[in-house]
Amino acid sequence: MKTIVLYYSRSRKTATVAETIANELSTDIQEIKDVRERSGFLNYVNASVDALRESKTKINPEKLDLNDYGLVYIGTPTWAGKPAPAIITMIDQCDFKGKDVILFATMGNQGGKGAIKRMKEKVEARGARTVNSFVLKTNNQELIEIKSNTLKKIEEHDLKIYGI
Ligand SMILES: Cc1cc2nc3c(=O)[nH]c(=O)nc-3n(C[C@H](O)[C@H](O)[C@H](O)COP(=O)(O)O)c2cc1C
Repeated sequence: MKTIVLYYSRSRKTATVAETIANELSTDIQEIKDVRERSGFLNYVNASVDALRESKTKINPEKLDLNDYGLVYIGTPTWAGKPAPAIITMIDQCDFKGKDVILFATMGNQGGKGAIKRMKEKVEARGARTVNSFVLKTNNQELIEIKSNTLKKIEEHDLKIYGI
């Protein structure tokens, strides 16, 4: 069975983590896009409210077929201590029965663990087994630092042992 990394990213930080994992572990990768405009100050406020309320959004691709995959990584930025709406929406459309899941959340400073906890509850309710998870701080970090911190997480969390 294959491995895939699914992620949402508004400003490429979570994308950098996802791409580093996919390159390092030779997995498939799929970005989940939020069709709603999320840039700009007003959209930042709305995005936080949407995340807090766990409001659904329109995503692209609309549906995912995970049949070929035994291990699924899911990555999100932390928004108001929660997963981004695109990830909540994606999880609620997927069947995770019999799949192992590894969760990760990027965050400016804090709240990533809450985002992981909520994703864990939701994927497990849909049949997944969470086998590992990690959070990564991104405040004041260039993408190159995020990449090197991701490589450290891969080692610390022994991620190479999964999905073989
Ligand atoms: C709407 C919104 C809400 C956020 N809320 C939090 C938060 O509660 N805690 C935190 O540490 N960072 C928060 N952040 C910062 C992001 O989690 C952080 O910059 C993340 O790494 C961005 O990932 P991305 O570039 O993949 O979008 C927030 C960012 C946005 C846009």
